Amino acid sequence: MTLPDLPRAEPAALADAFPPDFLWGVATSAAQIEGAAFEDGKGASIWDHFCRQPGRIKDGSNIDVACDHYHRFRDDVALMQQLGLDCYRFSLSWPRVQPDGQGAWNEAGFAFYDRLLDALLEAGLQPHATLYHWDLPQALDEQLGGWLSRDVVGHFADYAAEVARRFGDRLASIATHNEPWCTATLGYETAQFAPGHTSRAESLQVAHHLMLSHGDAVAAMRAVTRTPLGIVLNHTPAFPATPTEADRRAARIDDGLNVRWYMDPILRGCYPADAWQHVGADAPQVAAGDLDRIRQPLDFLGLNFYTRSLVGADGQPVTGPGARGFTDMGWEIVPEVLTQHLVRLAREYNPPPLYITENGMANADRLVDGRVPDAERTAYLASHLQAVAAARNLGADVRGYFYWSLLDNFEWNSGYAKRFGLVHVDYATQERRLKDSALWYADMIRRHRQRR
Ligand code: NOJ
Repeated sequence: MTLPDLPRAEPAALADAFPPDFLWGVATSAAQIEGAAFEDGKGASIWDHFCRQPGRIKDGSNIDVACDHYHRFRDDVALMQQLGLDCYRFSLSWPRVQPDGQGAWNEAGFAFYDRLLDALLEAGLQPHATLYHWDLPQALDEQLGGWLSRDVVGHFADYAAEVARRFGDRLASIATHNEPWCTATLGYETAQFAPGHTSRAESLQVAHHLMLSHGDAVAAMRAVTRTPLGIVLNHTPAFPATPTEADRRAARIDDGLNVRWYMDPILRGCYPADAWQHVGADAPQVAAGDLDRIRQPLDFLGLNFYTRSLVGADGQPVTGPGARGFTDMGWEIVPEVLTQHLVRLAREYNPPPLYITENGMANADRLVDGRVPDAERTAYLASHLQAVAAARNLGADVRGYFYWSLLDNFEWNSGYAKRFGLVHVDYATQERRLKDSALWYADMIRRHRQRR
């Protein structure tokens, strides 16, 4: 697919391609940046635990310190202000504010987010919170079996309502889950993520509980806040590796399991029939009324987009023609797919307003004379902004873009080796340094603001 009506990739042309109220931001998550893993009463999360199991994290690292954002958040807010951003997407650590995931709240934990919100608002940055970015309280895993337990659904809704009650009036939005596909599939089927299980049936039951907890949390939060509520999904659009019927079918099933498995229950109140049939006996237990609880009116849908997948009937991952290269994760760079996918979502689902809640690349960044010349990241960013502008022209109601990530940080089972930040972090000293891509983004945002 070629991109129609493309603005040029220079900052000035891109600034012109978006309406005045389009929002520019960056995203992070608690477990990946905060550190202070056991300070001020925080409980352990499943990731604190997972990192301590030999062989789970490629570089053997953990998140005890990470980017030390817990102590350096004021510097990080200042960096965002310097970049001229409109908004910041971050997550709350559930075990920081409720160490056991049920029962007592940890006031010192809430106090941290209180300080963070004050600092953001003082700096003129809109705070967009995510409630669950993968750091389940370890106690819930040990005592109940984590997301496999239907009881966790109620505990999550209680946590959501408490956050909304305390912070709703200062938050620009609240998303329930970040990328439930990753929690379910990578956490319970492929064992790449915490808690490291290997069962498809478990993963689909977990996905169901995650969606149920999303619906119940939205309903519980509506009772205490008027802030916009939504969810963040990751979509890796699947294409057949070859034009054979077998590969085409494999791609449809992949789409059913990664895109429609979540979109259909959340927005339409049903599971996709073809994928449901495909999983057979692994299909989840669904109680009467669950699908109505899952489908709640939403104020926005967050989309995290990085790449596509090419699917063959033999199940082997492949790469194909049309990519502009690969990121340091080995992911194909395919901005055209973002345009195509956004237009598809707009046409097939009539979704609420869309936000790109994550998009970015890991790059083998180098420090050269005090600079980080990451031209690859600037090209990635520019091409994906072109793709968003093109999708808007074709009818997708995208209202904002959050680059992943503000900082280099803990990339889950890849440890600290993969750098996604606009800001370089020297983990030995915690020194932050703006990469060239950050300067480019700031320039584009400044030009856009001049047109407001
Ligand atoms: C998605 C996740 O939400 C985020 O935590 C992760 O670091 C990025 N993608 C990059 O893989």
